[in-house]
Amino acid sequence: MGLIGCGTVGSGVLEILHRRGDDLARLLSRPLRVTRIVVRDPARPRHHLAGLLSTGVELSADPQRVTRAPGIDLVVEVAGGTEGPRQWMLDAFRHGRDVVTANKATLATHGAELFAAAREQGRCIFYEASVAAAIPIVEMLQNGLVANQMTRISAILNGTCNYILTRMELDGMEYPQALAEAQAKGFAEADPTLDISGGDSAHKLALLAGIVMRSHVPVEKIYTEGLGNITRDDIQFAAQFNCRIKMLALAKRNEHGAWELRVHPTLIQRDEILAQVRDEFNAIHLKGDAAGPMLAYGKGAGALPTASSVVADIVRAAKGERGLFNSHAGTLPEIIPTEKVELRHYVRMAVLDVPGVLGRITSFFGLRHISISSIHQPEAHMGHPVPIVLVTHKTQDKVVTDALRDLENAKLLLRAPTRIRIEE
Ligand SMILES: NC(=O)c1ccc[n+]([C@@H]2O[C@H](COP(=O)([O-])OP(=O)(O)OC[C@H]3O[C@@H](n4cnc5c(N)ncnc54)[C@H](OP(=O)(O)O)[C@@H]3O)[C@@H](O)[C@H]2O)c1
Repeated sequence: MGLIGCGTVGSGVLEILHRRGDDLARLLSRPLRVTRIVVRDPARPRHHLAGLLSTGVELSADPQRVTRAPGIDLVVEVAGGTEGPRQWMLDAFRHGRDVVTANKATLATHGAELFAAAREQGRCIFYEASVAAAIPIVEMLQNGLVANQMTRISAILNGTCNYILTRMELDGMEYPQALAEAQAKGFAEADPTLDISGGDSAHKLALLAGIVMRSHVPVEKIYTEGLGNITRDDIQFAAQFNCRIKMLALAKRNEHGAWELRVHPTLIQRDEILAQVRDEFNAIHLKGDAAGPMLAYGKGAGALPTASSVVADIVRAAKGERGLFNSHAGTLPEIIPTEKVELRHYVRMAVLDVPGVLGRITSFFGLRHISISSIHQPEAHMGHPVPIVLVTHKTQDKVVTDALRDLENAKLLLRAPTRIRIEE
């Protein structure tokens, strides 16, 4: 086989193949051998590869040495990016090779084209490591739970966001400090935009929803909102409501077969299973019509946790498994626009503490038929800024969005309000 990419994940794959090679060879009755490795800059010293290179493994900067040169039966893409991997995968299929990848961004963006090309050429894409690294969630959904009509996926799919929210709660950090710590510990990328914007979770949700819906789910169908507006105050107010804030990826099916697809910061009760997931861990809470509820929990990033799933896919490919061949070929079911979804909402506003301000705010919501289930204002000093937090009864998302926009325009607030959706 050939490896395109030998950074964090690629090095983990080589380490596992070295450590566990004998056992895997016994299981397969043949050894698993990497014979070519492609990197961006082969001239850079790579001491950890010295042993392999001395046995004749080829190191180059040319992906075609893996995708089309003779002598390779499987392409393992662990380089990252989107356009390059798209081209390499298409080239691999054209040359009769299956692909193992950890690249959710490429599959979520170009999945329709890539899965169709694989089908046409009779090839397979194995992508266990693309979602929740070590957790074998793709295998669970494709095979273990195939008998079920899945009705719900609620998941923490981004370790960086979960780490930031955990530090904000447990150490009282503000968001920028928690993000800096996540970066220092290597949980967040140097450019964490895709993580904290919710984009990375949306890529992963698109892949999981695609398996469950038997169709390619365009990532644009997923309503996506980032973590950037959440403050320590929100975390503390959430605690007063016996809740925690989690960055959730949600796919929910209604009784008519239509789906909600959303990624956003979410208030959940503290005794919910997902509220217990701390630090950089991932968890996926599933519901199937036959199996009932189920939880998968584990490490969602890192060299060895990710390589654990890449190597599992290499073994599947070596055994000749084909995955669920038509799993992405069906028609996309109806997706319910998030603005039509009815939820409870948490709203935090900053106002000047002057007589009548609370009344004006509550009547503002009342006039728009938004009914308030609770309201909270800490002890304030006349003429000073004070936060007001309210929780609505179930209200259509768009009604709350419009009300918050009007409230901001009415200049009743000191700054833009923060809204967090609540999942029961
Ligand atoms: N890191 C994780 O925890 C994790 C978890 C799940 C999934 N993933 C996915 O796994 C993939 C790899 O991530 P990583 O963290 O291992 O990245 P990384 O540490 O940055 O390594 C990337 C590797 O790919 C090589 N490369 C990059 N662009 C290339 C190009 N155009 N041509 C040839 N080689 C190229 C790099 O070469 P040089 O060595 O010369 O720079 C490097 O060896 C990504 O798709 C990522 O989303 C990562």
